[in-house]
Amino acid sequence: MIRKYTFGSQVPTDAVVQSLPAESGAVPYFTLSREENRVILTLSLLPDEILFGLGESVRGINKRGFRYRSWNSDVFNHTESTESLYGSHNLLVFFSPSRLFGVYLDDPGLVTWDLGYTRSDTAVITSENGDLDLYVLEESSLTELARAFRRLTGRSYLPPRWAFGYIQSRWGYASEQEIRAVTSEHRKRHIPLDAVCMDIDYMTDFRNFTWKPDAFPDLKGFSESLKKDHLRLVPIIDAGIPVAPGYAPYDTGKAAGLFCRKEDGSDFVAAVWPGRCVFPDFLREDARIWFGNLYRALLEAGIEGFWNDMNEPALFYSDEGIADAFARAEELRGGRVEYEAMWGLKDAFNGIANSMDDYRRFYHRIGGAAVRHDRVHNLYGAGMTRAAAEGFRRFDPSRRFLLFSRSSFIGAHRNGGIWQGDNFSWWSHLKMALQMLPNLNLCGFLYSGCDLGGFGCNVTEDLLERFLQLGVFTPLMRNHSALHTREQEIYRFSSWEMMRDTVGVRYALLPYLYSEFMKAALTDGMYFRPLAFDYPEDSRAVRVEDQLMLGEGCMIAPVLEQNAEGRYVYLPEDMLMVRFRSAADYDLVPLDKGDHRISLGLNEFPLFVRKNHPLLLCAGGESSETMDDRHFTVLCRMDRDVGYSLYRDDGENPDPDLARGLTDVALDTALLRASPVPGVAISDILL
Ligand code: GLC
Repeated sequence: MIRKYTFGSQVPTDAVVQSLPAESGAVPYFTLSREENRVILTLSLLPDEILFGLGESVRGINKRGFRYRSWNSDVFNHTESTESLYGSHNLLVFFSPSRLFGVYLDDPGLVTWDLGYTRSDTAVITSENGDLDLYVLEESSLTELARAFRRLTGRSYLPPRWAFGYIQSRWGYASEQEIRAVTSEHRKRHIPLDAVCMDIDYMTDFRNFTWKPDAFPDLKGFSESLKKDHLRLVPIIDAGIPVAPGYAPYDTGKAAGLFCRKEDGSDFVAAVWPGRCVFPDFLREDARIWFGNLYRALLEAGIEGFWNDMNEPALFYSDEGIADAFARAEELRGGRVEYEAMWGLKDAFNGIANSMDDYRRFYHRIGGAAVRHDRVHNLYGAGMTRAAAEGFRRFDPSRRFLLFSRSSFIGAHRNGGIWQGDNFSWWSHLKMALQMLPNLNLCGFLYSGCDLGGFGCNVTEDLLERFLQLGVFTPLMRNHSALHTREQEIYRFSSWEMMRDTVGVRYALLPYLYSEFMKAALTDGMYFRPLAFDYPEDSRAVRVEDQLMLGEGCMIAPVLEQNAEGRYVYLPEDMLMVRFRSAADYDLVPLDKGDHRISLGLNEFPLFVRKNHPLLLCAGGESSETMDDRHFTVLCRMDRDVGYSLYRDDGENPDPDLARGLTDVALDTALLRASPVPGVAISDILL
């Protein structure tokens, strides 16, 4: 059951698709108070209560014990003390043996989640705007609660099937030749690959929807020739439009008055990669249509996937912000500067980027009224995602496009995926990526993944390998790194064959993982889940922080530490461990419920499969398009006859029919007689 409560008058956020009447009584579970405009919800936490949700945020799967802020932020340097990341996903689920409910704040402004931070036994949720729709969700299980939330907010985005292939990316690829060098190194060494991302350097002067004519003299021809080799290009698009009269997107947007404005009616200007930019007012439908149509030039050049970036929006500086910092410096000039003033001065300059002052300097037009940006800040990236997705649909309604964004808000999960932003080549960020995934799924973002290898800093060979071992299972499997960091393509490393074999496992599993993803998306389910969803009564399982359930029948438990030659794994039930070294080389080890020390050399990683759940492996391949998804080896630890329904489709139909896509696979216990591994059926099938 979902109950809705309305406070003040919130602007339309497009987050919710179900229209529910607002209740008039008191909000259950919480004590409500108001301070100026703020709405404050307070609740005593039960000693054994676990909190799930808040999608993209740092720290554990259980969010208890920290303070988070929903405020979409460009945070290149994030650590475990960072309170806000790139997206705001205001769903929190309270789970304990004695109560289960969720609270969702449809509120596009700043929301603070003090979850046992100020007082360890108290949660305090504060909406700064005080204008919001609040939903309280009650269902009989975590899984049902997640499903109810998805029904409230709409079905998850469906990427094309090729988007489940391996994607190579690096900030710095600047020409056709450089990209060809990357693709040919992969093909030459048989490292599977489906796509290469084009970061900002493909553009002329970092201007969206342009490409450097010398570096890409025939983009269409280039993309077509890559497609013959089953490869795709995925260009980046940034939110800001450079102030450059003569540049068509600037001229047309300016003429139609589609940019965000300051109080005096002039366009708000701040610098991003191209220098001084204006910002499309993505909260307006006419601006979204105009922006969505700008993708056409690239779509006509054969591009089928994009990543949208800098859409919090990131603001490097504004002239006003710089003037304010200099004014602060002027106040101190000539005097004796003591250390406090010096730190203040330093902060004045350090705080120029993404400053709250700038976010208060501009306005959106919503329903004819001017709304100051900070009140609706968290909607901006979602508006850009929507503009792009709707533009693609107008261009070609008969197929799915790849789209993933950096900034997001609930609702954007219907239009695109997200990547987890600028992580670093740190072991702690490998763990953070894992822990974020189930909470992103809970909030609707099924198509997601992190920059494998880490974006900032220099990766080490072992860290890249362990990142790839997680990436084998994440729907978005992209290796991405920053300019000036160590080159991170697999073929740069002496143990590239080991990494190639790891990516090869992804391709052997791809039909199965795609099936699990599509079934989750089409039934409003989750692809990754905390163990608590499947074993709510197992007091050990509910607190596991470094293992995830995947699809109907699997569990992952990657190695997250350097120099580890294995790890402890908790099995909440009897399972089959498939310890992979490559698509063709793996051990099958039946393990019983309980704790196990698993030995995992650097080239090894496990997948745990529930008893009586068949796992389907194909022969793999070098691209998602050339794989044979009819011949499979089926592996199953079983003690009865079992079946599995594999979902397959053409990989691009935008409105797939779940029932029509399913093919049933049946395994008979008679298979066990011939098996070299007791209790495990191994069977080759043709579908
Ligand atoms: C931002 C993005 C990153 C990209 C860079 C240059 O930092 O998050 O992925 O490579 O900008 O475009």
